[in-house]
Amino acid sequence: MAMKSKFDLLESRSAEALKGGGAERIEAQHKKGKLTARERIHLLLDEGSFQEIGQLVTHRSVNFGLDKQHFLGDGVITGHGTIDGRTVFVFSQDFTVLGGSLAEAHAGKICKVMDLAMRNGAPLIGLNDSGGARIQEGVVSLGGYADIFHRNVMASGVVPQISAILGPCAGGAVYSPALTDFVLMVEGTSYMFVTGPNVVKTVTHEEVSSEELGGASTHASKSGVAHFTAPDELDAIDQLRRLVSFLPNNCEERPAALPYEPGDETRPALDAILPDNPNQPYDIREVMNAVIDPDSSMEVHADYARNMVIGFARVAGEVVGCVANQPAVLAGVLDIDASIKAARFVRFCDAFNIPLLVFVDVPGFLPGTEQEWRGIINHGAKLLYAFSEATVPRITVITRKAYGGAYDVMNSKHIGCDVNFAWPAAEIAVMGAKGAAEIIFRNDIRGAQDPEAMLAAKEAEYRDRFANPYEAAARGFIDEVIMPHATRRKVIEALRMLRNKAQALPRKKHGNLPL
Ligand code: HXC
Repeated sequence: MAMKSKFDLLESRSAEALKGGGAERIEAQHKKGKLTARERIHLLLDEGSFQEIGQLVTHRSVNFGLDKQHFLGDGVITGHGTIDGRTVFVFSQDFTVLGGSLAEAHAGKICKVMDLAMRNGAPLIGLNDSGGARIQEGVVSLGGYADIFHRNVMASGVVPQISAILGPCAGGAVYSPALTDFVLMVEGTSYMFVTGPNVVKTVTHEEVSSEELGGASTHASKSGVAHFTAPDELDAIDQLRRLVSFLPNNCEERPAALPYEPGDETRPALDAILPDNPNQPYDIREVMNAVIDPDSSMEVHADYARNMVIGFARVAGEVVGCVANQPAVLAGVLDIDASIKAARFVRFCDAFNIPLLVFVDVPGFLPGTEQEWRGIINHGAKLLYAFSEATVPRITVITRKAYGGAYDVMNSKHIGCDVNFAWPAAEIAVMGAKGAAEIIFRNDIRGAQDPEAMLAAKEAEYRDRFANPYEAAARGFIDEVIMPHATRRKVIEALRMLRNKAQALPRKKHGNLPL
């Protein structure tokens, strides 16, 4: 063959691969409001940075007519490129090719980029859009999935792993995203479930649509499976790029800092945030926004367990992970969902060298049979465990209430927090004044001529003694009681002091988190 025709052959193969499942299927994809696998990659990565790997891979199956259906690339586009100049590895399933279904060759391509991401210490981003196991190929698909799951677990805590769900993701296929650090879903075009609406109907007689069973808003608000949702794919891709900006490349590195100009760090507005009545709500995000760099935050799990607020932000240019009770929702109480939400985030931040900045205003754990029977004991322990184990720089600001076990759990000094601040209105006590007075002054109250007045007097006595930060400060549980307006300055100084923190955990194979 003449050299020219050899070159032409390469060109025609490449051109064929670029066509995916063909014009008709691409049009159908667009009609659904979805981009193609290649369009997604090109939007996600810096322009011109994508380097494809395995464009000419095909399956080897001859079952059920597959021998006549060869598509170069086998329904997934894989490779690497950059986001803001930093290398990331990507796979993008192509729904126009055999429904993006996964079997031996398709899975092999994904595994190859996962191995490269691990070896080269770079994040992995999966763009999922697939009908699941390729039915014609049978059991090799199951093997392919498990090969990916195993790599997801090996990569966990080594490189950040992000999953975007941009179409169907059903059956066992959901477990790869579930093993990754963050899941993003697009409203209206993506869904995830272990068993679909038809099976649900047969087994439980429930009538439910795909969207209701496993759409973006379901997973963002009810199950917590999705950390982020986007109204459309363009927004989803913007969010992926922004998320990556907060993350280091791997567990040996820190996230990149942005330049920061020191200025006047006092924030007078913080002095006016707390209502006079300690039972009135306020939005903890106002406090956080005044402490972090302007417009620097990305909330995680915004619609799930809203009594806890978590997210990434920057303080003086450095990335921090914020965890905060939200007094505006359920008085900021700790319940099962809030504990799990925060615990997973704390572990992510700890794995990837992101300092923790914690704001506390918590009246305690949520009482009730529903919580007890579902195991608040174990789930609350997850958060306790996660904080206790974290060796990254840790800072706590108690803005108001820190009661009972919730005080201990919320990054207290005793479980390894480095710098503990409290505002002057902080109430750090074993329980609320009324409940405490009812127990310890029970006999005085019963014997009193006016039991109500006696209760009020004893409640006031208990409150005066304990509903303040000074008992805790006297014991060194609080390092400093600070004016609210000084919080940002104090946090900047604390982060600076902790910059070279190095702490090792006892030698062990691994701990036994109360799962
Ligand atoms: C082979 C598949 C496929 C699959 C879709 N296609 N899913 N081919 N294996 N799993 C093909 C279709 O046959 C069709 O080809 C083309 O992709 C587009 O699919 P449509 O059905 O036309 O698209 P749409 O109407 O959008 O429906 C999407 C869908 C549906 C809901 C995902 O395709 C579907 O239900 N697919 C089967 C899903 C499934 O049961 N997968 C296996 C689950 S078990 P033609 O040529 O006809 O256009 C599993 C186990 C994993 O995944 C275990 C891991 C541990």
